[in-house]
Amino acid sequence: MPKLAFIGSGRMAGAIVQGLLRSKACRPSDIAVIGGADSTAADLSKAAGVRVASGPEDLLEGADAVVLACKPQQFDGLDERYGPLSEGKLVLSILAGTKLETIGRFFDVARNVVRAMPNTPGAIGRGVTARCSAVPLTPEDAKLVGALLSGLGEVIELPESMFDAVTAVSGSGPGFFFEYVAAYEQAAVALGFTPEQAKLLVRRTFEGSLALLQSTGDTPDNLRVQVTSPGGTTKAGLDALAAAKFREAVAAALIAAKKRGEELGRK
Ligand SMILES: NC(=O)c1ccc[n+]([C@@H]2O[C@H](COP(=O)([O-])OP(=O)(O)OC[C@H]3O[C@@H](n4cnc5c(N)ncnc54)[C@H](OP(=O)(O)O)[C@@H]3O)[C@@H](O)[C@H]2O)c1
Repeated sequence: MPKLAFIGSGRMAGAIVQGLLRSKACRPSDIAVIGGADSTAADLSKAAGVRVASGPEDLLEGADAVVLACKPQQFDGLDERYGPLSEGKLVLSILAGTKLETIGRFFDVARNVVRAMPNTPGAIGRGVTARCSAVPLTPEDAKLVGALLSGLGEVIELPESMFDAVTAVSGSGPGFFFEYVAAYEQAAVALGFTPEQAKLLVRRTFEGSLALLQSTGDTPDNLRVQVTSPGGTTKAGLDALAAAKFREAVAAALIAAKKRGEELGRK
């Protein structure tokens, strides 16, 4: 069982730790965590039985891999001892927008640096995480990274050049989806439903539609055509969406998110 050290013990670190314990890839005693000034490390220790380290040396003593899970803006203030103390260890960073080169400069004697982009459904094991690495992973490290990330859901390997795009699609994706659900529920209430009725009707419709899409294996375009009779109600609604340039709006959202990712990455 690998020994793991977590720099940062917040929401995402907690989701990774719980995934590791759920899959039995690790025991709680194999995991040490540390946080900043607040109580997240103690909270995670209480929730998962992992050890709270007293400082960088204690955290990294005997660890095989280091998970960097603080906020990107907290990275600059990180204790400088983490760099040399990570000699020969695998470093996995989940910092949004922070490039392999930047992480590699700090952890300059690590055996490899992996960058991962998870998303919030990872907190319930239903996310999708993209990963890339400074140098190709050895089979052992690929297994270790798989164990670390699979508790968050699906894992996809992508070149780092696609990370701003993946941040837009799957990283910001939950935010776009929640906005669509909120707009749909608001529109349902405007048609006369109570908020509770709107919630039930909208969420079951979306949940069921996604399940149908997955179970048939058909394309969304084909399934849409199947429920769209000429001159019918769905057609009238789809025409209104097209007139409001719905697809253009979705494309613009992804392009804007990707562009913002590029800007943040240059800072
Ligand atoms: N949440 C998401 O949906 C999501 C998606 C993709 C990527 N990410 C990435 O995941 C990372 C973590 O996000 P999160 O939502 O889990 O954040 P979070 O809940 O705010 O957790 C941040 C953690 O970092 C700790 N920390 C702060 N300063 C530190 C320091 N100097 N040394 C060690 N630990 C320190 C904090 O400790 P205290 O609070 O106890 O001080 C806390 O445990 C971010 O880099 C983010 O970009 C998040």
